[in-house]
This record gives sequence, structure tokens and C-alpha cells, in this order.
Amino acid sequence: MPRPTTVLLLLRLLLVSLLCFSSAALPLPPRFVSAEAPPTVQQVAALPGFDGALPFRLETGYLAVDEDNGAELFYYFIESEGDPRRDPVLLWLNGGDHCTVLSAIFFEIGPLKLVVEPYNGTGVPRLRYHPYSWTKAASVLFVDSPVGSGFSFSRNPQGYDVGDVSSSLQLKEFLTKWFAEHPDYLVNPFYVGGDSYAGKIVPFLVQKISEDIEAGLKPTVNLKGYLVGNPVTGDRVDHGSRVPFLHGAGIISDQLYEAIMDNCQGEDYTKPKNALCAQALERFKRLLNEIWKEHILYKKCISVSARPNDGSTGRKILKEETGLLKHPPPRPPMECLGTVDEWVRCHDGDLPFKQDIDNSIKYHRNVTSKGYRALIYSGDHDATIPFLGTQSWVRSLNFPIVDDWRVWHLHGQSAGFTITYRNNMTFATIKGGGHTAPEFQPERCFAMFKRWISNEPL
Ligand SMILES: *[C@@H]1O[C@H](CO)[C@@H](O)[C@H](O)[C@H]1NC(C)=O
Ligand SMILES: *[C@@H]1O[C@H](CO)[C@@H](O)[C@H](O)[C@H]1NC(C)=O
Ligand SMILES: *[C@@H]1O[C@H](CO)[C@@H](O)[C@H](O)[C@H]1NC(C)=O
Repeated sequence: MPRPTTVLLLLRLLLVSLLCFSSAALPLPPRFVSAEAPPTVQQVAALPGFDGALPFRLETGYLAVDEDNGAELFYYFIESEGDPRRDPVLLWLNGGDHCTVLSAIFFEIGPLKLVVEPYNGTGVPRLRYHPYSWTKAASVLFVDSPVGSGFSFSRNPQGYDVGDVSSSLQLKEFLTKWFAEHPDYLVNPFYVGGDSYAGKIVPFLVQKISEDIEAGLKPTVNLKGYLVGNPVTGDRVDHGSRVPFLHGAGIISDQLYEAIMDNCQGEDYTKPKNALCAQALERFKRLLNEIWKEHILYKKCISVSARPNDGSTGRKILKEETGLLKHPPPRPPMECLGTVDEWVRCHDGDLPFKQDIDNSIKYHRNVTSKGYRALIYSGDHDATIPFLGTQSWVRSLNFPIVDDWRVWHLHGQSAGFTITYRNNMTFATIKGGGHTAPEFQPERCFAMFKRWISNEPL
């Protein structure tokens, strides 16, 4: 596991260099594009830092999702390295506070990784090919969403004022346009996926897409289902499971566990009214702060926001996933800037975001009741969204079990555990996985994904 701050620094340098030196490889920022310029779709054959031609097809581009404000979403489409004519198309989103989807490409499921090595002071970080890329089994459409993430931008500041619902509807608009430009892919099985905060967005978006299909709107995608990893689902179910999880992991004592269970019944864990509960949770928080929540076995070396926490729960969930640099490198010179003033991996509360979906369980129930398949997976060492809470809301949907709790294997060893319900929803753990499970267990996660997306049992 690389030191996150070093990686972030390298990532930033790479991005700055992408913007400054390689306008041929990435779309020209609109500021430089004359009125008669062609649409901003680019085939990218090479990237700075990667030796030789890219061994996969990469297309990048912008699509407008809010004409009034001039807001556009940026995407990276990586064609399947298997059989792109038959393999599924997967829309992929990630979590955090307006985090770029490059996080997913470089650190999780994409075909490129940053080479982690000391920086020698010149050039761009090197990239290497990642063999456990999910693009071996599916074409993946990675989108910088919501507006303000990565290279996605708005000409009018009001365009940044989005939330769970409006950003999901913008993604639906995005898909309509993308498929209109890529009609060959309409026949491929289509899936939506994402992790962490995208756990709120994915099931709602899938429901909206399914409603469009029912209404006969064109173009009609071949929607098959969705997958979410260590998904944010609702505060109560997500946060409530931290206490039993950390108890089971030996991070809090029996006594503290019992004190919380006895005194915090029905309390809001973020604003407890009962004084004994508040005291117990204070002790809980101090212990929790000693570990790295995203993977309880790793060193806690990610730097946190320089700004004080504003205390709002929602913002906190977003922030916890956000690895921020305390001392970012200087901004690139003005002539390097294009669609976004400054590219950052994640934001930190500086852009508005309305959390107007409290809980996504009803969307999970709705779309799986219609026959769409779902894979809900959990890295089992994550304390941010522990598997216990996820397992319990999956169970609460109350569908009969069709494949009872069992091990799933890789190379003859247990790679995790899984259960499948009659609504075609599979819950799976990934042994040794953290919050972004593929970042920690790439081979296991790829095996899980490949089996599931091929309609095979895990
Ligand atoms: C520094 O590293 C880059 C690759 O990241 C390489 O191209 C360059 O030659 C190196 N410079 C020196 C002085 O070693
Ligand atoms: C799903 O939600 C839609 C919109 O709220 C509703 O009309 C529909 O009946 C729901 N379907 C199921 C199977 O719950
Ligand atoms: C589950 O998914 C399979 C494969 O897509 C499909 O054939 C089957 O009808 C689905 N089952 C239900 C109950 O929707």
C-alpha cells in the first residue's frame, strides 16, 4: 500500500502535466476551442508516463448535462480488452466529496496504476499496466460526477449547485447522450456500479433508467443490473454497524460496547442527547481515531483536512473518504488551466452538495423486485461502511435465500463469503479488503467481478 500523500502528490503532478503538455492526448479545454471546433471527443493513444502506446482503447470527452448553466460531465471510456462487441458496458462512479473518477481508474478497477517510487524532481510519475483491471471483462465508462469533480465543470456557478437527485438525473441525461453517440453499445448488457458514496446514487439512478425503459424512451439501454461496494446507504445503518464491527475487531472493549448498547438506544450517534451515551461515544471516537478507518490493519497516514470539521454528519461521510494534501504543490501557471481552475483529486466542502436521498434501501428493493441483478460487496476490513451494516440491510429486504452463506474461493483458498437472495441480489465479502476493496485486494475483486458479470456463481 503506497503512502497516500506521496501518491496524491504524484497524481497531481501527472494531471498538471497532462493539462500542460499533452493537449493532443486529452480534449482541449473549451476555453481554447474556437467556435467551429469539433466536439470534444478524443481517442487517446498514449499518456505521459506510460511507456509506448496504451494497450487498450481509451476515449475521453465531455457531454452537456445542464444547458442553462453550461455544465458538462467529463468521461473516460475504456473499451473492454476482452470482446467489446459482447462484453457488458459498465458505468462507474466513485465516492468522496466530488472526487475524480481517476481515483477509480488509478487506484481501484482501471487498467493503469501509478508507479510508486521516490520523486526525482523532474518529469511526470510513471504509469504501469494493471493486470486485474475490470476492463478485461467489461467496457467501463468512468464519469467525473457530480459537476465540479475532476474535469467536470460549469460555466455558470449555479451549475455546481447539485445534490443526490439532480446529479443522478444529470447522469441519466449523460447516458442518453453517450449512447446516442455510441449506438453500437446499446445491445451490450448494461450495468451501473460504484463504491462508497456512489452507493447512494447507483440504485436511484438504476431505478430512473428502468422507468425510462418502461416508458419506452429512446435510446433503450440493455439494463441488466448494478453493483455497489462498501456502499453508503443511510446514516443509521452505516454508522450503527461501526460499534459492533470495532468491538468484534478488538478495538473497543466489552465494557465500552455494552455502555453504548445500554445508553444509546434510539440515539442519533452524531448528536446523542443522553449524557452517558455521549460520554461512551466520545471514548469510542478516541479509539476509532487511532486506526485508519478505510482499512483497519493499515497505517494511518492519510492526511486530513486542514479545515476544522463542521460537524455535519453528511459532510463528514464525504470527507472521511477524501485524502487531502495539507500542503498542495503550487498551482500550475495560468496558461495551463482550462475547464477547471485547479484540478484536485477530491474537494473538501468548498462546493455545494445537497444530500437529498436519506436512505437508498427503497431503491434497492424497487429495482431488484423488477428482476435486475445486484451485487453488493464489502471489503471486510473497512470501518467506514462496515460489512455488518451492509449485510444487515441486504437481509432486511426480506427475500428468501437461494444460495445460503458460503465461502467463495480463489486459487483454492477462501477469498470471501457470500449469500444470494431470490431477488437476484448477491452479498459478498472480500477477505482483506478495505473501503475501496479493489485497491487492497485487486485479484480477488477482479475474480468476483468477472464471475458475477458473466452470470456465474462466485
Ligand atoms: C526522473 O524520472 C523520470 C521518470 O519519472 C525520468 O524520465 C527522468 O529521466 C528522471 N530524471 C533523472 C534526472 O533521473
Ligand atoms: C418502483 O418505484 C416506482 C416509482 O416510485 C413505482 O411506481 C413502482 O411501483 C415501484 N416498483 C416496485 C416493484 O416497487
Ligand atoms: C435473475 O437473473 C437471471 C440472469 O439475468 C435471470 O435469468 C432471472 O430471471 C433473474 N431472476 C429473477 C427472480 O429476477
